[in-house]
Amino acid sequence: MTEPAKRATETRRSCLALVLAAGEGTRMRSGTPKVLHHVAGRAMLAHALAAVRAAGADRIAVVVGPGREDVAAAARAESPDAAIFVQSERLGTAHAVLAARAALEEAADDVVVAYADTPLVEPQTLARLRAPLADGAAVTVLGFEAADPAGYGRILREGDAVLAIREDKDASEAERATTLCNAGLMALSGAQALSLLDAIGNANAKGEYYLTDAVEIARARGLAVACATAPEDEVQGVNDRVQLALVERTLQRRLREAAMRAGVTMIDPDSVFLAHDTVLGRDVTIEPNVVFGPGVMVEDRATIHAFSHLEGARVASGATVGPFARLRPGADIGEKAKVGNFVEVKKAKVGRGAKLPHLSYVGDAEIGAKANLGAGTITCNYDGFDKHLTRVGEGAFVGSNASLVAPVSVGAGAYVGSGSVVTQDVPENALAVGRARQVVKPGWAESFRRWKTDAT
Ligand code: UD1
Ligand code: CA
Repeated sequence: MTEPAKRATETRRSCLALVLAAGEGTRMRSGTPKVLHHVAGRAMLAHALAAVRAAGADRIAVVVGPGREDVAAAARAESPDAAIFVQSERLGTAHAVLAARAALEEAADDVVVAYADTPLVEPQTLARLRAPLADGAAVTVLGFEAADPAGYGRILREGDAVLAIREDKDASEAERATTLCNAGLMALSGAQALSLLDAIGNANAKGEYYLTDAVEIARARGLAVACATAPEDEVQGVNDRVQLALVERTLQRRLREAAMRAGVTMIDPDSVFLAHDTVLGRDVTIEPNVVFGPGVMVEDRATIHAFSHLEGARVASGATVGPFARLRPGADIGEKAKVGNFVEVKKAKVGRGAKLPHLSYVGDAEIGAKANLGAGTITCNYDGFDKHLTRVGEGAFVGSNASLVAPVSVGAGAYVGSGSVVTQDVPENALAVGRARQVVKPGWAESFRRWKTDAT
């Protein structure tokens, strides 16, 4: 963080963040509001709220479209204290900000305007945006060098001074040649914000109230306007699903790089998909084609082999998972345990050093330390109405292809014969065999063949 950025967060200036989430998102062609689409396993709106909170916002106001109770509920779920405002008509970005007038009327040192459809903006960038306000600026805009500036508002400067932001549709040929574009985000001095916003009119090509006009109005009043910058991929907005995928790619790259720099080995990082909250310890190895849903923690020295899918799970240190394993919510894999190929674990605690090496389903279970479940062991946890618990004690050995019909327990150190259907509890150190006894008929095959071929 730069010095002024540090100061902005450290001086504990009060900050109101306005998050605009009123976009209709028609180009998403979706039954889901645009800002509730996910990036790295979390709604774009939640990303934006998390960023403004991390940048020191002590009050948050969210502006939603009319009738968007779903967006309001998602905002409250992420930020329970957020005040929700409705922009009843879509009359421009300044109009959207003013929908939160009641929030703006309460004093704040800084006001930050952020967008729920621009989910990758980092807290440090927001802090850099706030920083000039502490030094007396009335407005800070966020600029980026656009590879293709068409469609964006251009930031017009003279030396370091920001003169205006000109919307693409209102710009002259000469102004259109500017490549420094407006990301849309803005910070305003709390003392000036309402008076600047109220002065914005709608005499422009789109007939909208442009938030960007706050720049020229501030200048005309002799107030200072500053400009912070960010890389283009950080301020990429989402209007359609192609852009959604671009933003996902950018965030994945960021998450993978952070993981690798923190001591994680990824053999093919491009094929590993992380969630926003994935926690990976030191010397964890992630093989190719692994997908992390939300809520996964992998501790030091664990290995996730290729083609595994994990969600809501913990993998303790030194454990190995996969290849082709699926850990569903509530899977808690103990230290040095082994979850092998084609194994699914759901809501189950697998003890230290336990082994589930092949082809198993283990759900609603507690598997003791060092227990071994043979290939094809299945917990029959569901009776069509309720889920039931299976317990396998420490050091127990369950033979291949056993069905453990829950609720049931296999005591510590017990054996279960392969192919058994276990419906009764097995005491410690006992052997349970629950399968049909084998019948052997000597010579049967020969007489069978004769019967088939001699029958003329
Ligand atoms: C805006 C900026 C432009 C910038 C660009 C970056 C203005 C006037 N222009 O242009 O300088 O380069 O973003 O992407 O601010 N919104 C509402 N209510 C409204 C209008 C907009 O909530 O009445 C929301 C939209 O949902 C969107 C955001 O504000 O999330 C930007 O609005 P949009 O109309 O897309 O502005 P642009 O023309 O892209
Ligand atoms: Ca836009």
